[in-house]
Amino acid sequence: MEVVICKTKEQAAKLAADIITAAVEKNPKLVLGLATGSTPVKMYDEMAKAAKKRKISYRAVRSWNLDEYVGLPGTHNQSYRYFMNENLFKKIDIQLKNTHVLNGMAKDPEKECKAYEAAIKKAGGIDIQVLGIGSDGHIAFNEPGTSLKSRTGVVYLTPSTIKDNARLFFGGDMTQVPTKALSMGVGTICEAKKIILLAFGENKQNAIKGCVEGPVSQFCTASALQEHNDAWIFCDEAAAKKLKLRKYYAWRSATKLGIAL
Ligand code: PGA
Repeated sequence: MEVVICKTKEQAAKLAADIITAAVEKNPKLVLGLATGSTPVKMYDEMAKAAKKRKISYRAVRSWNLDEYVGLPGTHNQSYRYFMNENLFKKIDIQLKNTHVLNGMAKDPEKECKAYEAAIKKAGGIDIQVLGIGSDGHIAFNEPGTSLKSRTGVVYLTPSTIKDNARLFFGGDMTQVPTKALSMGVGTICEAKKIILLAFGENKQNAIKGCVEGPVSQFCTASALQEHNDAWIFCDEAAAKKLKLRKYYAWRSATKLGIAL
C-alpha cells in the first residue's frame, strides 16, 4: 500500500486525476470503477478538464460504480446514478450506455448484483478502482462487520453513515437517507488491478489510521486494501495526521511518483 500525503486536497485530487488520465490515454478501453460522495468531486473535475484540454476521449471507456441506495431511481437527485451523470459523465464524452450503476429499484436485488459482477468479469475486470472512505472505515457501503471476502449484494447502513450522508446530502435530514443499499463487496473491490482511495479532512483521521496501520479487520473494511498489491491512498495532511509512519510514507510515495510534495 502506498500513502501519498499532500498539503491540500486539491493537490491530491489533481495527482489522482493525472494517474487516471494517463491510463485512459494509454488504454482508451480502460475499465474504471467509480465512487460517489463529496471526496472524488474535485478529481472528477480535474479529469474532465484534462480531457478537454488534451482531447482525451472516454468514448470507449467503461465504468462500474460502487453502490446505489435501495429505493431511489436513477432520476432521483440524491441517487448515485444522478450524481455520476452530473459530476462526471456529462463533462466527458463517455457513452452513457458504457456506464453502469447498480439499480436501486431492482425487483430482484440479488439477481441484479449477480448480473453486475458477471458484467464486470466479462469486461475483463476493473483496471482502476476509485474509492472514498467512510468515517467508520467503510469502502463502498461495506460497513464494520462485513466479511472482507464479501461480494456485491444488499447492505445495511450504520447510523454514523446515515448521519454523514445526511450532513452532505438529503438537505441534512437523516430520515430521508435510505437505510439499505446495493454495494460491491470488499472481495469484489479488491479484485481491481489498481486501487486509488481518496480521503480528506480531520473526519477521516481514524478511518485512515485503521485502513493503513490498523489490523486487517472487518471492523474497518478499508483495511482489506493492505493485502492488495497496487493500492494507493491519496490524502491531505489532516486525514493522515494519526499515521505513525506518515513521514516515511510521504517520502516513499513521492519518490516512487517522481514528485516533490
Ligand atoms: P464522502 O463519503 O466522500 O462524502 O466523505 C465517502 C464514503 O462514504 O465512502
